[in-house]
Amino acid sequence: MGTLPLTGHILPIMVTRHPVSSAGSSWSTGDGRNRGHLSATSVARQSFLWASHLGAVQRLVSTSAVTRPLVHRFVAGETVDDVIAAARRLAAQGITSTVDYLGEDVADLAAARRVAGVYRSLIRRLAADGLASSAEVSIKLSALGQELDEEEAMANAHAVCKAATEAGTTVTVDMENHTTTDSTLEIGRRLRAEFPSTGLVIQAALRRSEQDCRGLARPGSRVRLCKGGYQEPVALAWQRRQEVRTAYVRCLRNLVEGGAYPMVATHDSALIEVSRRLLERRFGTSLAHEHQMLYGVRPEEQRRLVRAGERVRVYVPFGDQWYPSLMRRMAERPANLALVLRALRSRR
Ligand code: FDA
Repeated sequence: MGTLPLTGHILPIMVTRHPVSSAGSSWSTGDGRNRGHLSATSVARQSFLWASHLGAVQRLVSTSAVTRPLVHRFVAGETVDDVIAAARRLAAQGITSTVDYLGEDVADLAAARRVAGVYRSLIRRLAADGLASSAEVSIKLSALGQELDEEEAMANAHAVCKAATEAGTTVTVDMENHTTTDSTLEIGRRLRAEFPSTGLVIQAALRRSEQDCRGLARPGSRVRLCKGGYQEPVALAWQRRQEVRTAYVRCLRNLVEGGAYPMVATHDSALIEVSRRLLERRFGTSLAHEHQMLYGVRPEEQRRLVRAGERVRVYVPFGDQWYPSLMRRMAERPANLALVLRALRSRR
């Protein structure tokens, strides 16, 4: 179990209520090639799911002198105080943040309302501590009840957006797996009618995304463009690394041409450079966008971009449910391990 805790903390972004079955789908490996390691993947998936239920393993991981500092590299902590401190440290380096609360799967609507309540208190704290201009929040509709009752999820998201607007900050709605894309975009559209600064996320790996980008490409539209953190079926998603990269550039071009505000969420140096050039060509300045990276991943690159005059926002997860969340993310897509292992090896 030694390496598991090192892997998943950075992947709270991948919360889903609908894990895509591996049956019949080809799993992509970390380098984007399909190698047919279905049995190894299945074993890994079962192990992660099994580990997600083990409180003893969580206690060991949380308290071990060896793993604790590594856990803290990728998760700001368990409490609002912890994440406020992290946002303050980032702000002091000229880096803005988007804070994600790691909740468990919500089993009922009362739990979904509790998650919305945590976000509202967090937002009030950000405002009270003078961080509202440098820290926003990222929400997952699944944690707000999307699977149980879409209207309830909409109402919870609305309450969070309202609190954010009153506090002078913004909300970005994370994108989960493909089964929720239409619902998430529709809720996002409704939120934007009242809170136009609401950010939405597009996953370049999905074949539909170029079209979705065209639909979102207009001035003032905040769109986080990421590769996509879920293993999706071949019929719906590009599988090879290079295909995903070129799809990413096409999506970005659509956003830029429509005058949207792209939030370039990747650690991939090639894409960071391409986006910089593309935006410079379009606007004559690199300021009409921002880069986004995960807490603890490529911190030196984050600082380098700031020094180069770029806007950088870091996605900062916190919460006491980081462990099961992490294990499920690994079960959904064990290839995500590669990102974390690289982050641990590299200082760049
Ligand atoms: P990827 O893992 O593909 O790596 C590409 C290249 O980056 C590597 O080959 C290497 O060159 C370089 N690299 C990476 N790490 C490095 C390191 N430590 N040192 C040196 N080089 C390194 N997903 C989703 O489905 N829904 C969502 O809402 C979000 N939200 C989100 C927000 C933010 C702020 C980020 C950064 C990401 C997400 N994601 C997401 C996750 C995203 O879809 C994707 O899974 C991960 O970012 C990994 O893809 P990358 O493009 O970052 O690098």
